[in-house]
Amino acid sequence: MTETTKFWGIVPAAGVGKRMQSNRPKQYLELAGKTVIEQALSRLLQADVFEAIAVAISREDPYWPQLPIAKHEKILTAAGGKERADSVLSALRSINGKASDNDWVLVHDAARPCITASDIHHLIACLIHDEVGGILALSSHDTLKNVQDGRIDGTLDRNHIWRALTPQMFRYGMLKSALEEAEGNPAITDEASALELKGLKPKIVEGRPDNIKITRPEDLPLAQFYMEQQ
Ligand code: CTP
Ligand code: MG
Repeated sequence: MTETTKFWGIVPAAGVGKRMQSNRPKQYLELAGKTVIEQALSRLLQADVFEAIAVAISREDPYWPQLPIAKHEKILTAAGGKERADSVLSALRSINGKASDNDWVLVHDAARPCITASDIHHLIACLIHDEVGGILALSSHDTLKNVQDGRIDGTLDRNHIWRALTPQMFRYGMLKSALEEAEGNPAITDEASALELKGLKPKIVEGRPDNIKITRPEDLPLAQFYMEQQ
């Protein structure tokens, strides 16, 4: 690592949390005495590697400005976008001029509050000399089926299937241009897919299984349990 290599956090937090079916976006639900987004951001701050963390927030969001962490000196607010990829691109653009093309960015979902500083450090250590960058991921323990119209149409080779988590770590310039080229493409559901579209092969770094994404109501008590265990 050269002395000038900088790290930036990018946190998409502009979703509405439809699958959570609650009265507010899931990132503002309570988890272990704080909101989900405060838990996620506190853990990124704890890792103590970031110059700043740019958080993409929806324009209609009344909750964010009320959180003390929104005023933290290392937290920047950017506008959210229509899809997750638009929010990430907006947050990347918000640090234009501050970040250099060669700096690393770690993109982390606001809805993943159980991320640990050790997983962040592990991801960085595995990728710091990598040409492309990569992502935290989990191998699958279950047998996986290809399904058509409710019937099994073959078994996938589990050894080649991984579940993509966040953070996803790429060079600022490379990620920004990959997302700009892919703008509007619905197949871009994470950062790695934007780089894959350019023919690049991001690296897989095995992460902790407790780094879950809060998606459905039952995920919240599970996240609470994981936090107590950590
Ligand atoms: N996100 C975002 N901008 C969007 C959509 C999603 O910043 N236009 C963020 C979410 O806030 C979340 C992360 O991307 O932190 C992962 O997305 P997901 O889990 O799908 O969250 P939601 O889109 O809010 O949930 P749902 O798909 O159930 O509506
Ligand atoms: Mg979504």
